[in-house]
Amino acid sequence: MDATLIKTVNKLQDAFATVGVQNPVDLPQIVVIGSQSSGKSSVLENIVGRDFLPRGTGIVTRRPLVLQLINRPQNTPNGTEEDLPNGETEKKPRSKKESNEKENKEAEEWGEFLHIPGVKLYDFNKIRDEIVKETEEKTGKNAGISPQPINLRIFSPHVLTLTLVDLPGLTKVPVGDQPKDIEKQIREMILKYITKPNAIILAVTAANTDLANSDGLKLAREVDPEGSRTIGVLTKIDLMDQGTDVVDILAGRVIPLRLGYVPVVNRGQKDIDSRKAISSALEAERQFFENHPSYKSKAQYCGTPFLARKLNMILMHHIRNTLPEIKAKIQAALAKYLQELTSLGDPLDEHSNNQGNIVLNIITEFCTEFRTIIDGNSQDLSS
Ligand code: GDP
Ligand code: NA
Ligand code: MG
Repeated sequence: MDATLIKTVNKLQDAFATVGVQNPVDLPQIVVIGSQSSGKSSVLENIVGRDFLPRGTGIVTRRPLVLQLINRPQNTPNGTEEDLPNGETEKKPRSKKESNEKENKEAEEWGEFLHIPGVKLYDFNKIRDEIVKETEEKTGKNAGISPQPINLRIFSPHVLTLTLVDLPGLTKVPVGDQPKDIEKQIREMILKYITKPNAIILAVTAANTDLANSDGLKLAREVDPEGSRTIGVLTKIDLMDQGTDVVDILAGRVIPLRLGYVPVVNRGQKDIDSRKAISSALEAERQFFENHPSYKSKAQYCGTPFLARKLNMILMHHIRNTLPEIKAKIQAALAKYLQELTSLGDPLDEHSNNQGNIVLNIITEFCTEFRTIIDGNSQDLSS
């Protein structure tokens, strides 16, 4: 997530916290939908910038994963040295295991599952293992699905406090333990999340399949016919037949979408098996678009970083649009509070009233300043 956006939102949260309003901005949920193996989990992981989701060629995501990102300020470093008596230095090097544990304890990012309260997982591989284990627990190993979500919170200074939802892929033919009405069950599961007007839908379609048959786009259109909150994501651009490209789709000549389409290249199965890092994958993606004859003239509108910027822009607009509502809520709360004070016949009531006005002025000033910040950022992004 964009660092400026994170800072801006934190500033807003802090300012409102000082006047007693918690989480004034209810940020939209980002919901990823599409056919099985279209690359939904890969896209989500790239947006978060961490490796922690099970991915693969089969039906891997079999329960909804509700992923709450929670911004928390950077840890102040506190090394072991401070704990040692004055002048003493550590003589024996710690064993590898010990030092790893130490590093992990000092890590600034961790995950917590709702179903294992109080346990902090610093190792993102363990987070992935737990998702797999918990999926199998409720659905069996044989491709079964369940609408019961897995709730995971990730705490980090590098994320925006925001909810992302990874969902099982749309599928038509039941396999393994899947029920006969698998298609209907998954549809209902997905609709539950994307019907919310506050949801931003990432409709993922693999570029080596026909866009007209895109299950994700079809379902998105049912709940968002205007296309005001649907972004088309085209994955597997690297797997398209030579000589074919998505230029017509990007130009809106196939199925136009108001918010448009973003082509991306995620890690292939080989990259996943060889544990290719996200950073190298992003670099490879950049090079792919910059060197491809069909995309090099518009490379800045391609790839995961552009998708992330698009999302940031949508979030900025959302915040800007909700500011007047937030202000109204605070004004109402303040008026009620002042009325209560007045009815108490407090002799200091004149004074309190002034204080109320001072708070109100601060908030008004803050909202104005905040709009300026957001407008500045949106301009950068919409160019
Ligand atoms: P999901 O089932 O929609 O969540 O899809 P996954 O993210 O699990 O990906 C399914 C498979 O497609 C995995 O083997 C990924 O490595 C692969 N994959 C996803 N996106 C891309 C891409 O852009 N390019 C390539 N080559 N493979 C991809
Ligand atoms: Na998959
Ligand atoms: Mg998946």
